[in-house]
Amino acid sequence: MDHLSKALRQRRSVRTFLKKPVDPSLLESLQAYASKIQNPFGIEVRFVFLDAKEHHLSAPVLSNEPFYIAAVVNKVPYGEEAVGYAFEKLMLKAVSEGLGTVWIGGTMKREMFEKAAGIKEGERMPCITPIGYPAKPAFRESMMRKGVGADKRISSDELFFEGSFTVPLTEQDPVINEALEAVRWAPSAVNKQPWRIVRKDGRFHFYKYSEKNYFSEAVGDMQRIDAGIALCHFITVLEENGRKADIIIEDPKIREDDHLTYIASVITERETENE
Ligand SMILES: Cc1cc2nc3c(=O)[nH]c(=O)nc-3n(C[C@H](O)[C@H](O)[C@H](O)COP(=O)(O)O)c2cc1C
Repeated sequence: MDHLSKALRQRRSVRTFLKKPVDPSLLESLQAYASKIQNPFGIEVRFVFLDAKEHHLSAPVLSNEPFYIAAVVNKVPYGEEAVGYAFEKLMLKAVSEGLGTVWIGGTMKREMFEKAAGIKEGERMPCITPIGYPAKPAFRESMMRKGVGADKRISSDELFFEGSFTVPLTEQDPVINEALEAVRWAPSAVNKQPWRIVRKDGRFHFYKYSEKNYFSEAVGDMQRIDAGIALCHFITVLEENGRKADIIIEDPKIREDDHLTYIASVITERETENE
């Protein structure tokens, strides 16, 4: 069992790196880990490891990154959630090994990375991450963090609900609370946290909350990627606390409007009596 819950609490985006290559044995073990990651949507996510120098790659918001990982997926429904889930798992693993990562979906020369990743007809490469050893954030990184309010999150009573979208969720179970907090602090594009959870009939229903359309052909729906990341955080905490957690796609029809879109539901129960 990996202990990613700790990495999940400690993580923050890293855009400034030490001028130091990644230990080759660490790269190898990450590659092996990447090839085994499963996601609840059963959609294959291909990870391509790219040496920055060898492929002449760079990105404007990053400094000194020696390596990148690109995530590639077929253009299929739930492909974005699968990338969100699987790539976040890989990034948490990298963080747990002392590396820094940051989701990059916009601030890069996309064609250069797509070419290096060798994407084929019918595939897309929604995001990449640099990997390397974290350094003190450069000035432009600190400015960027301030700009998107990267150290803040929406309060839980505006994100998590009971029965409908009007009653905030109050929870006694410490493991569920930890899982919800892990969702709240999950990274999201421009830190929008575009997800909401409603618990109903013992299930945690994940919705996308969005005030505008974030779909593009090259990326897919960026906020569905965010939803996949949120699901990864929720399930990682549950499983690492000995809870069983299954994802099903079965719309409870609680509410659907211009802003809210149903994504998936989590069913969870205690695995053992005396945890
Ligand atoms: C799907 C996705 C795409 C992102 N794209 C970019 C990007 O293009 N450039 C960038 O600097 N940060 C990007 N980010 C990082 C977010 O800005 C960052 O996660 C958020 O501000 C919260 O900060 P934290 O990760 O340090 O908690 C992206 C994050 C996600 C989840």
